[in-house]
Amino acid sequence: MKRIIKTALIMSIGFMGTQAVAQQQKPVTTSAVSTDQKMNKFVDDLIAKMTLEEKIGQLNLAAVGFDVTGPIVSENVDEKIQKGYIGGVFNTFTPSAARKLQQMAVKRTRLGIPLLFGYDVIHGHKTIFPIPLGLASSWDLAAVERSARIAAEEASADGLNWVFSPMVDIARDPRWGRVAEGAGEDTYLGSQIARAMVRGYQGNDLTKENTVMACVKHFALYGGAEAGRDYNTVDMSMNRMFNEYLPPYKAAVDAGAASVMTSFNDINGVPATANRWLMTELLREKWGFKGMVATDYTAINELVPHGLGTEAEVGELALKAGVDMDMVGEVFLNNLQQSVKDGKVSEAEVDAACRRVLEAKYKLGLFQDPYRYTNEKRAKKNIMKPEYLEATRDIARKTMVLLKNDKQTLPLKKTGSIALIGPLATSQRDMIGNWSGAGDWKQAVSVEQGIRNVAGKDIKINYAKGANIADDQQMIERLNAHGGNLEIDSRSSEDMIAEAVKVAQNSDVIVAVVGESQGMTGEASSRADITLPGKQQDLLKALKKTGKPMVIVLMSGRPLALNWEAENADAMLETWFAGTEAGNAIADVLFGDYNPSGKLTMTFPQVVGQVPIYYNHKNTGRPYGGELLDKYKSRYLDVSNEPLFPFGYGLSYTTFSYSRPELSKNTVNPNETLEVRVNVKNTGNYDGEEVVQLYVQDVIASVTRPVKELKGFQKISLKKGESKTVTFTLTAEDLKFYNKDLEYVFEPGEFKVFVGTNSSDVQEASFTLAQ
Ligand code: BGC
Repeated sequence: MKRIIKTALIMSIGFMGTQAVAQQQKPVTTSAVSTDQKMNKFVDDLIAKMTLEEKIGQLNLAAVGFDVTGPIVSENVDEKIQKGYIGGVFNTFTPSAARKLQQMAVKRTRLGIPLLFGYDVIHGHKTIFPIPLGLASSWDLAAVERSARIAAEEASADGLNWVFSPMVDIARDPRWGRVAEGAGEDTYLGSQIARAMVRGYQGNDLTKENTVMACVKHFALYGGAEAGRDYNTVDMSMNRMFNEYLPPYKAAVDAGAASVMTSFNDINGVPATANRWLMTELLREKWGFKGMVATDYTAINELVPHGLGTEAEVGELALKAGVDMDMVGEVFLNNLQQSVKDGKVSEAEVDAACRRVLEAKYKLGLFQDPYRYTNEKRAKKNIMKPEYLEATRDIARKTMVLLKNDKQTLPLKKTGSIALIGPLATSQRDMIGNWSGAGDWKQAVSVEQGIRNVAGKDIKINYAKGANIADDQQMIERLNAHGGNLEIDSRSSEDMIAEAVKVAQNSDVIVAVVGESQGMTGEASSRADITLPGKQQDLLKALKKTGKPMVIVLMSGRPLALNWEAENADAMLETWFAGTEAGNAIADVLFGDYNPSGKLTMTFPQVVGQVPIYYNHKNTGRPYGGELLDKYKSRYLDVSNEPLFPFGYGLSYTTFSYSRPELSKNTVNPNETLEVRVNVKNTGNYDGEEVVQLYVQDVIASVTRPVKELKGFQKISLKKGESKTVTFTLTAEDLKFYNKDLEYVFEPGEFKVFVGTNSSDVQEASFTLAQ
């Protein structure tokens, strides 16, 4: 009997019902009514029909589970969907899988409210782009946006309408494995990239079938985890928070990001997921965020070990703080009804969260067509198109950073013989990096294959593995248990090195492909030692002794400490994990078909003891200026303060010369603009691209300010011998910062301007900002 009644209800009020509601609501003067008003009316009407249980169901985000990204997995998802206990799912895709689940929600629940389909589309969906730290190193916003656009095209064709990206956490500690997922250490660049990614994913109309909802994460300050250990405590001054760590989240929100994910970490004593100040006062009330907030994976449950109370209590805290969706943990599902009954939470508070979930669905057009993202034809046409593969190859080339190139060792000739050595030289799995969404590593191009493709038949490749990527058995097991496929050679390291040396002796040049395996980076992959893992350095030392020119092709998801390598390699190219077309793109650069143009967005330390190390530090009261015998300065006894490679650093096969920066005025009024002009000339033998960087220092202010901060950059292309004048425009807005009362102000006085090829190698000028 019950079943029959339910079926009847589905027919009358199920999905068709909600569609009918939408149609009935269409007032005669549609054009006069704003979309917001229409949405409000629709959601009001729907909420009025919902039971408390149904509302709480909307707040539950379940992992469908073939791809586990946390310690527990949601259970009995099908059954829960049909009971209306689930508002959205993630970790499943393909049009057919999504359609099947969507049908359960739409046809088998009383109100037929469609589901959200989320996924960690981090650097591409099926066509994999370089890891985000690599993408940022392109300093090419159009390329970054394009990668997000293609990811959205593919994801939306594959059943998804929500991506858990961009990750905009500022990160200054390379021990933290998740630096791979973000744009690096800089606030200004990070904010630009955050905007570009949101634009790429969401386009300008979320209801379109080829756009997806972005999710800015991890709100907030996750990158400030103490000691670079994942999930660790963050304790940060308001000054640093507002001036350095929060702006990229705000930039993404300002760009229209429709959802935000909370972070796992504690923030000055209140974990983000229970932090009302963060999610309600700052995000919603101050920044005007109108979208939906989801937690990170079981982040509400984790408030228990954080020490904030029982499961029921932390659920109440999270809801009141401003969380709308509970990822995987089911704290809301299991406790909120009782909390409402006990008067600990009001139904109005549940309504507010439910409203925001329904609004997200409305904005995606799911109430008009819940199957919008499950079009098989689109999936067939729109996934891994040849033009997407071309795009990822092209973008990957732009992300590579030439760290050293003595005696023009690179580019290589397409003739002669190469000793191709190293545990990463033939790897396909590592090419697509950590968290490569639905990407298939078997379609990725290895370095060996790329060299064959690009250099052609006239080159002889002599290969030896030379070393395992790691020797620590526990580490290997762990990596293989989480998506790695490391094959460990059973020969002794001495034998492997001896073979490699022989191969090198019989070749013209050594190309050593070394670094980290993809699984050594990303979530829960912090490293305390950030040198090359395993016996790879021993291998390089032995190769060096052959006297052959040695090119290091480096792969890593973080800055590494590479003192020996930087001193001893003839050339060194950082390639990150470059995506599906990695090998082709790397070969394009090695053989000069593309002249490298990437620049670091995270400082490389000399040794891990310098960490956190970043270019935009404060001056201190005792800055070290090279006075060797002056003891009482801010410095180390055993290593200089300098990084191995500074922020913004990267070479080209050509060279560029810079004129001194010229300013349009020496004194500028707050309502005027200042032009900074510099002439850049290509003085070398190749056409090339250069990222011209502009930094500013506020010399005297009411609070201490960094020694310099990036305020502009332009990536320009110059033919051999060509020169161009690059003009930057600064306004008082660019000189603003949060003062001690957290007011966003500029302060008149002296400013320095620095322009150059990286954050250290600059020329300066100065101006005064008048009262
Ligand atoms: C990560 C998030 C991710 C989520 C869902 C978490 O463990 O911190 O970045 O979006 O899992 O997979």
